[in-house]
Amino acid sequence: MSLSKSKYVVTCSHGFEPFLQKELARLNIQKLKAGHGSVEFTGTLIDAYRTMLWSRLGSRVLMEIGRFEGTTQEELYEGVLDIPWEEHMDVDGRLWIDFTGQSKEIRHTQFAARKAKDAIVDRFREQYNKRPSVDKDADLRIHIHLHHGLFTVSIDLCGTPLHVRTPDKHITDAPLKETLAAAMLYASGWDKAHKKGVALVDPMCGSGTIVLEAMGIACRRAPGLIRQEWNVFRWLQFDQKVWNQVVQETKESQLEAPKAPIFGFDIDASAIDCVRHNAKAQGVPVPNLRVQPLESLKTPLAEQQGFLVTNPPYGERIGSHAHVSGVYETLGNQLSHFPIESWRCFLLCPPNELYQQTGFHRTEERITLYNGPLKCRFLELDLHRPTHPVIDETPSHEQRT
Ligand SMILES: C[S@@+](CC[C@H](N)C(=O)[O-])C[C@H]1O[C@@H](n2cnc3c(N)ncnc32)[C@H](O)[C@@H]1O
Repeated sequence: MSLSKSKYVVTCSHGFEPFLQKELARLNIQKLKAGHGSVEFTGTLIDAYRTMLWSRLGSRVLMEIGRFEGTTQEELYEGVLDIPWEEHMDVDGRLWIDFTGQSKEIRHTQFAARKAKDAIVDRFREQYNKRPSVDKDADLRIHIHLHHGLFTVSIDLCGTPLHVRTPDKHITDAPLKETLAAAMLYASGWDKAHKKGVALVDPMCGSGTIVLEAMGIACRRAPGLIRQEWNVFRWLQFDQKVWNQVVQETKESQLEAPKAPIFGFDIDASAIDCVRHNAKAQGVPVPNLRVQPLESLKTPLAEQQGFLVTNPPYGERIGSHAHVSGVYETLGNQLSHFPIESWRCFLLCPPNELYQQTGFHRTEERITLYNGPLKCRFLELDLHRPTHPVIDETPSHEQRT
């Protein structure tokens, strides 16, 4: 079973697809195809287990167990009835169905999910004279997708989505999801740069989502290793031996400490306490932390190369517009003293021109990412291009004499 191949879909937030595709390629998974909010591959269960343990961007890992043509409730019923559910779950187990997509005939996903449930229940009743129950806390979580007249039936190997990965996370205002922080680090290129010792600084680190993701990347910690509960454990075909093997290889690749220094600063002392707590909860080393206002930001190590990656307060969620605008201005002032040949600055900010308050243009490339429902831009400030010409304040010859 572990070597036979199946189709898998790894779901993700919109905008993450190209980064997720690269992340999966780094796990040696082949035949990857990016979709809309997902990446598909054909691979073994070992590939799927590696994805569950290692992916920083994926939300769920779905394993396809059936597909059939159709657009109506009746075709859905017949197709689902044909799937050998008794090979996947026990008759006394609990199931849950998520249905997505639609056709001319199927408009309500809840009705469709109920129809599919009827088919599964009828199949069990026919064979055992009893039926599984329906519960969100399910032993088998089933995902059915209808697209262009094709139903695809999959089982969710994860259960709780992968981005929920910090147990008892302590948070400050407007924390990022771990998946979004990871996407920012991948988009900046720091996931490669850290191998050459390039530092990472988040001067407004809040509860530390960016610096802790960075620590996980730099120390090769698989984010799934700390998780205790996976839906796959309750699947009838779950192979504990193969899972243990993959967990073991994952543990063996961990590093004790990062090659590159990682710094988190915040004006709020309670935020820094949160980062310490969250580092422990994630099982990663604590970064270099300091309570420090942006006004005191300097390059942490002279001559060191570094990336500054941050999400400043977001006008709509915390802080007034004037305050937020002032934060960007202060950041720009501090950056103007950074050695521009060796430092780069990346921001997750609103899709407006607020970043210009830093006094720098942005580079050409910018990416749209979503912070929950909020549309954001991830952009790099071009530290070589201030919006106003730098005034040379050195006194002229005449003034000096
Ligand atoms: C949007 S939150 C960052 C959230 C963080 N990325 C997380 O995932 O938890 C912005 C942070 O900026 C901090 N901040 C605001 N003004 C600041 C200033 N002048 N100096 C330093 N930190 C500041 C706030 O205390 C807050 O923690």
